[in-house]
Amino acid sequence: MGEVNEPILQVKHLRKQFGNNEVLMDIDFDTYPSDVVCIIGASGSGKSTLLRCINLLETPTQGVILFHGENILKGTKPSEYRAKVGMVFQSFNLFHNMTVLKNCMVGMEKVLKKDKAYAEENALKYLKKVGMAQYINAKPAQLSGGQQQRVAIARALAMEPEILLFDEPTSALDPQMVGEVLEVMRDLAHDGLTMIIVTHEMAFAHDVASRVVFMDKGVIAEEGTPQEVIENPKNERTREFLSRFHNQGGGNF
Ligand SMILES: Nc1ncnc2c1ncn2[C@@H]1O[C@H](COP(=O)(O)OP(=O)(O)OP(=O)(O)O)[C@@H](O)[C@H]1O
Ligand SMILES: [Mg+2]
Repeated sequence: MGEVNEPILQVKHLRKQFGNNEVLMDIDFDTYPSDVVCIIGASGSGKSTLLRCINLLETPTQGVILFHGENILKGTKPSEYRAKVGMVFQSFNLFHNMTVLKNCMVGMEKVLKKDKAYAEENALKYLKKVGMAQYINAKPAQLSGGQQQRVAIARALAMEPEILLFDEPTSALDPQMVGEVLEVMRDLAHDGLTMIIVTHEMAFAHDVASRVVFMDKGVIAEEGTPQEVIENPKNERTREFLSRFHNQGGGNF
């Protein structure tokens, strides 16, 4: 494994087209250990497509993605790679027929080939971390959205990934449940977990991100610290985008 100052993940000249629709145009960015990169931008700017390319759910049209210097687009086995670069989705994507505990065990057993005792112990460890250990026997449908998302985070953590990707993890939640999920993510940032988070939670991005990336129409229009991008945006498009949040009372960052 690399030195501390070497990037874990490098995206270089990434392009993605769907038919004639150019969704990502020459995206470049690096992620270093313990980075918390928050990606912001309007609907349709390509944020999910970028995360999906990084997670091998979409195949880029051009460009490379390097994980510890290795091009993941050349012969990587998706299931093994996704154990190291996990993803948490807006809609939780839990297995509905399995208990909370089994949801968190199945990846360890199937992909990492861990035995049942190890999988159970590790699943419990991470369910405790997200405050869901008392729900091990519940099925997802019995839980609130915020609880389901915390289980989905525990499931991803149980694989002990090097990077965790989040695609709008709180957008499907009732407002009163957003806080409990953001609190878990704050804790993970505090522990030094490397994360790439697509979010519309500007106060969270301001407080937790080490770097904010503003995407606009398939390009990175601006990036920098939260102070640079959220407090003092240079780009007119960034200002325009952020003003919508101020107008909706989402200001105070
Ligand atoms: N599988 C697909 N096939 C065709 N077009 C797609 C596909 N996935 C995404 N797109 C298009 O790519 C563009 C970018 O979509 P994407 O979902 O990446 O945006 P986004 O920034 O995540 O938006 P949102 O904030 O609404 O989630 C959109 O124009 C979308 O219609
Ligand atoms: Mg999206």
